[in-house]
Amino acid sequence: MAKIAVGIDIGGTGIKGALVDVKSGELIGDRVRVETPAGGEPDDIIQAVKGLLKQLPKHDAEAPIGICFPAVVRKGVTMSAANVSKKWIGFDADAAFEAALKRHVHVLNDADAAGIAEMKYGAGQNETGLVIMTTLGTGIGSAIFYDGTLVPNAELGHLQIDGVDYETKAAYSAMEREGLTFKQWAQRLQKYYSELVALFSPDLIIVGGGISKQSDEFLPLLKIKCEIVPAAKKNNAGILGAARLAYKIHGN
Ligand code: BGC
Repeated sequence: MAKIAVGIDIGGTGIKGALVDVKSGELIGDRVRVETPAGGEPDDIIQAVKGLLKQLPKHDAEAPIGICFPAVVRKGVTMSAANVSKKWIGFDADAAFEAALKRHVHVLNDADAAGIAEMKYGAGQNETGLVIMTTLGTGIGSAIFYDGTLVPNAELGHLQIDGVDYETKAAYSAMEREGLTFKQWAQRLQKYYSELVALFSPDLIIVGGGISKQSDEFLPLLKIKCEIVPAAKKNNAGILGAARLAYKIHGN
């Protein structure tokens, strides 16, 4: 029998979700997307997730739900809020989603979820040693694994380089905002990843986020003293990783 969980990925602009076969790492049926409600407040987002759940294919009401979110998440409590309302800071998201959805829920950081998906089903399969997953999107998300075990809530997108929070310079949103060419953006990525390598000496760096689909345009321009590869799961990584962890914690 398939092992099934729901994966939901909450972002600043959209909320995506799907049913996931956590054994194979495949989506069951189509992915569903709803807009993130303006203001990104907890109650509105919870209602939007409730609506999204109804649009998923029919499934066992016992299937756990993994929800990933652009914040530090400790024991189900969101400790920060990037691109959503500040009301999430100190909010017991696990408890609030469980009460509203009447299902087992596990909330985790979005980059941690994407990293779990890559380690299990994608570019990091069977990798030992130190692996750093990064997601290049509105911000820079990061996840650290040692011998396959996640060290949660790494916030390496906020490394200070040249006196600034470097996600403001090297996230994909900075390239779009400033109209940079891939070559210009790659110079910033060069600085960012060199710093990561200097600080952590990783064995492998995985580069995710939607733009990793075009990794041919920028990864070959980087000269990094570490293997650096594009993510395999691209846009679905958050959904897959969130579903997998929720199943691991709450599945039967
Ligand atoms: C947040 C992280 C998040 C990343 C990607 C950063 O701004 O601090 O928690 O993982 O954006 O969404």
